[in-house]
Amino acid sequence: MSTTRATTKDRSAATTLLRLWPYVRPARARLVTAALVAILASCTGLVIPLVLKWMVDGPVADGDTAGVWLGALYLLLLGFAEALLFGLRRWLVARPLSHVEAEMRAGLYRHLQRLPVAFHDRWASGQLLSRATTDLMLLRMFLAFPLTFLLVNAVTIIVGVIIMLLQDWTLGLVILGPAIPVMITCMVFEKRYHSVARLAQDQVGDLTTVVEESVLGIRIIKGFGRHRSQARAFRELSGKLRGTELRKAGLLATIWGVITTLPEVAIGAALVLGCVQVADGDLSAGTLVAFLSTALALRWPVESIGFLLAMTQEAATATERYFEVMNESPEQEDAPLSPHKSAPDDEGLRFHQVRFRYPDAPEDSPPILDLIDLHIRPGESMALVGTTGSGKTTLTALVPRLHEVTSGHITLDGEDITAMPREELRSMVAVAFEEPTLFSASVKDNVLLGMDEGELDRALSVAQADFVHALPHGTDTQVGEQGLSLSGGQRQRLALARAVVGRPRFLVLDDPLSALDVHTEAAVEAALRDVLADTTALIVAHRPSTVLLADRVALLSDGRITAVGTHHELLRTNAEYAHLMSGTGEAEDDDR
Ligand SMILES: Nc1ncnc2c1ncn2[C@@H]1O[C@H](COP(=O)(O)OP(=O)(O)OP(=O)(O)O)[C@@H](O)[C@H]1O
Ligand SMILES: [Mg+2]
Repeated sequence: MSTTRATTKDRSAATTLLRLWPYVRPARARLVTAALVAILASCTGLVIPLVLKWMVDGPVADGDTAGVWLGALYLLLLGFAEALLFGLRRWLVARPLSHVEAEMRAGLYRHLQRLPVAFHDRWASGQLLSRATTDLMLLRMFLAFPLTFLLVNAVTIIVGVIIMLLQDWTLGLVILGPAIPVMITCMVFEKRYHSVARLAQDQVGDLTTVVEESVLGIRIIKGFGRHRSQARAFRELSGKLRGTELRKAGLLATIWGVITTLPEVAIGAALVLGCVQVADGDLSAGTLVAFLSTALALRWPVESIGFLLAMTQEAATATERYFEVMNESPEQEDAPLSPHKSAPDDEGLRFHQVRFRYPDAPEDSPPILDLIDLHIRPGESMALVGTTGSGKTTLTALVPRLHEVTSGHITLDGEDITAMPREELRSMVAVAFEEPTLFSASVKDNVLLGMDEGELDRALSVAQADFVHALPHGTDTQVGEQGLSLSGGQRQRLALARAVVGRPRFLVLDDPLSALDVHTEAAVEAALRDVLADTTALIVAHRPSTVLLADRVALLSDGRITAVGTHHELLRTNAEYAHLMSGTGEAEDDDR
């Protein structure tokens, strides 16, 4: 999806990775210690060639068997020490780094909860999911491995080269020959790898979205026999990802080839040159052995640079992707620029000249809602009627501030909703949405959503949701994706119970009875009538029976409230309303 694609400036990997510092900070002592231990381990390895030199020039040349055994013992001890130190490093970093990963993941989740609905409208969930999983795993691997080893290897290479130059500087220079071409290759590689890595990670996000949607929509896919086309879409995307991964592998293979071949050629040249020098008596055999084994000991640090750089690039990309989400601003608690001044007749829920356009809509498109003026008096219930797509759901979403009005004000008992803390606003207003969502939790937890248990039974009976008592474990029965599946009408009744459980002062119901049979609907209406008696309510309705629940009706048409009155008044005086309610709605235009 286009908005989530790389919009990044061309930052170097290092600058990008520096942004991780706040998260890494708590683990810094251990990370530094681990790096020092690794450097020590690596340098221990470099002592081995020096012992070899001593053995070749001393005991071996003199035929001293005991001396050879002693040398072998030293070598064994050095090997042990190296292994132990590397083990210690691992132990030092493992725990704090999984902690860093967990903290970053928790931070991402917390942030996602606080981001406005408009953000979630824009972002595909798979992109968010892949950031929370794959990208964070890449980051942990980076912190555990390349971060330390790029440093350790650099130190090892420098120390090794100094040792070699000290042994014999002409041979040392031969070995150093490939350094510059290798460095240039690394730089070119880094640049290319960066863009491919970003592409691959975005494609993983797209793939995750497809998988997620086909799991959620499995009934539709099966019902319409679309599993083949769905599988094809998946295959296409995974084919693309495979192509990108192959390009990554190709780049890695190239750098690996250069990084291995050039030093090996240099070692070969040094070997020939060294042998000539030994034959001429200019160099001791022990020095040549030490020199070559140092060069061989440096092979791994040099060769590993390729994939360490690759992992670093991937981590930089992951960091970019992580911060793309973290940098989105959460819902602000800012005071409105010009809070609405309350007037004496401002009690109840009131819309003042409200205009709304979705943030992602083109600038010149007509607003979905245009200059809405609507007053629902305290204790009154108002039905909202309009053709499908006229903006009813949009209008209800403005009250709990799921979307922000483009201009105008909404007031609750005279107080501008932008002037009160969101938490307070949302505790005053309860909503039931068109599509009732259940979480994977018990019926009880789904209805209460963290509220007091006292009102549970009343709420369930208002919503005529007594069927829950007949479930295997009553209100403790698990529902939602991981539990029992409920019918559409059952879910709708639970959503209604959720809305009324806290005895909210303001109730916003978006077509709450659409999935119920006539008898259940009548029963819910009878019970709702009591609740509505002392609540200020806005109820989106399509059917006359639901409309009759309300004291008055407002007709939404072409983004405006075109009529307000009682059901019977409007039936008599408004042709559009009469048409909508008459049930001969075939002529309705779906696209306003
Ligand atoms: N998140 C969104 N981003 C952009 N446009 C949207 C968004 N949600 C809805 N719309 C558009 O806003 C218009 C009004 O949609 P809305 O859901 O408010 O209609 P509605 O009156 O509730 O319809 P229905 O009776 O079918 O529920 C539609 O044209 C829709 O395409
Ligand atoms: Mg709607």
